[in-house]
Amino acid sequence: MADVTVAKASSFEDPGRKVFDINGTEVGIFKLGGQFYAWENRCPHLDGPAVQGRLLPCYEEDLDETGASKGRRFAKDKMNIVCPWHGFEFDIRTGRHPTNQAVRLKAVKFRLEGDDIVVSVRDR
Ligand code: FES
Repeated sequence: MADVTVAKASSFEDPGRKVFDINGTEVGIFKLGGQFYAWENRCPHLDGPAVQGRLLPCYEEDLDETGASKGRRFAKDKMNIVCPWHGFEFDIRTGRHPTNQAVRLKAVKFRLEGDDIVVSVRDR
């Protein structure tokens, strides 16, 4: 494994994304709701560049205090990545497909060291 400093955390918008080629492995780093997430850029469907797809807020039911629906709205804290090849969607926070939890992006190990984002990737 190799640890590579890829970016400053403070350089990300929220929501935001940056994609890096680290020793031949493409990695998407995302920021959402103040948290960071890292996924390999390989769609589990047919290896498409999933992390480079559009970012879409999730659509959810807006409930009042009694649980009755007030209609639907775009979520402020839930967002999906849409693979540009065939449209599979993945939750930025979990990497999972919304309806088939077995279909998911591969997580990449990373850590924050101060303002640095340090990614751990396999040596090639
Ligand atoms: S390769 Fe991503 S949806 Fe097909």
